[in-house]
Amino acid sequence: MLVPSNVCFYNYFPGIIFILVIMLILNKTARVFFKPSKRKVDGFLRSFNFHPGTLFLHKIVLGIETSCDDTAAAVVDETGNVLGEAIHSQTEVHLKTGGIIPPVAQQLHRENIQRIVQEALCASGISPSELSAIATTIKPGLALSLGVGLSFSLQLVDQLKKPFIPIHHMEAHALTIRLTNKVEFPFLVLLISGGHCLLALVRGVSDFLLLGKSLDIAPGDMLDKVARRLSLIKHPECSTMSGGKAIEHLAKQGNRFHFDINSPMQRAKNCDFSFSGLQHVIDKIIMQKEKEEGIEKGQILSSAADIAAAVQHTTACHIAKRTHRAILFCKQRDLLSQSNAVLVVSGGVASNLYIRRALEIVTNATQCTLLCPPPRLCTDNGIMIAWNGIERLRAGLGILDNIEGIRYEPKCPLGVDISKEVAEAAIKVPRLKMKI
Ligand SMILES: *[C@@H]1O[C@H](CO)[C@@H](O)[C@H](O)[C@H]1NC(C)=O
Repeated sequence: MLVPSNVCFYNYFPGIIFILVIMLILNKTARVFFKPSKRKVDGFLRSFNFHPGTLFLHKIVLGIETSCDDTAAAVVDETGNVLGEAIHSQTEVHLKTGGIIPPVAQQLHRENIQRIVQEALCASGISPSELSAIATTIKPGLALSLGVGLSFSLQLVDQLKKPFIPIHHMEAHALTIRLTNKVEFPFLVLLISGGHCLLALVRGVSDFLLLGKSLDIAPGDMLDKVARRLSLIKHPECSTMSGGKAIEHLAKQGNRFHFDINSPMQRAKNCDFSFSGLQHVIDKIIMQKEKEEGIEKGQILSSAADIAAAVQHTTACHIAKRTHRAILFCKQRDLLSQSNAVLVVSGGVASNLYIRRALEIVTNATQCTLLCPPPRLCTDNGIMIAWNGIERLRAGLGILDNIEGIRYEPKCPLGVDISKEVAEAAIKVPRLKMKI
């Protein structure tokens, strides 16, 4: 502020104050009108259900998941914002019994579902009347568990008078990547968890080609069984880990070359998987070692880490080989882009970094991009169900206003099964150096 030095400052004091106040007001006004924060605008637009660019209602879906041992719910909007989520995991209870006992899972779902849905809704800050639809897993899964989620959802749908969107659990897993990454159709998905193992080509929101699946158990299930057989829960470093995590942890200290194990199904030139044979081979090795070391079943073998390393390596190679063949098949049939193909890996086993590196060797060799949703979205959750609801709303697929006759389906395949065609193509997969 310029004040002539030969004039008494105090004569100008009221005027200066006046000017300062005016400047302050102008500055504030300018900030309000010309520099609005992005968040404020978003909030403002949202309050009017207006989506910038196009004029349509802002879609918000409540997703509910109870197909296995997690009671989960989430509220997601069409831009992929997770507005609220809640989950109750039964893992600890089932860990004690050494597996999921369906009536126990059902009882725990019943005890928790209302609270979980309420928590997700409260966290989202939206009122149930603002929901566009309710989406719930109705297939596949444990019958008793699916039943809890479905009957709760149908009551809610009836009370709120909202459309209902039945969700296929595996389709939801497969499309989760589109919530976190910009992935266009088609892409290849590998789903590996404790309950699932499949390779599918995703061509659209409800357009899947099944290339192969496990003929017996899932890899996560097999790894859990081996961990249990090795009593890793008694291992000081693994006492709080799930079976699969314990195997991954111990394998780092082991030598995989200590045991020579053949990869399963080497002669079958298809994209199917098998893990129960591998489990029996490992069982035999463990029995043999127990004899050699003169220890009882239930004690920790000195070679436990080597066994963990061997089983993990064989699992990784088997999964990598089948996936490699799937990529080659899709490229050969022009089902996937030659240079920009995407492989999405999801499910609980996708968080195993050793297996992921084996897959990276395959995607590197085939010029594919490997994508994985973050771990919390790889395992069962409500977000993927709500997101699948959003995808279906946007595509206008499977939105029901009439819920009469809706039933859950414990068994339900994913998409159109073309695994016979894949087998007939009998594609020979070039050998890759699995230096992981
Ligand atoms: C795959 O390729 C990338 C980029 O060239 C490289 O950084 C990475 O180490 C490779 N991964 C494996 C497992 O070889």
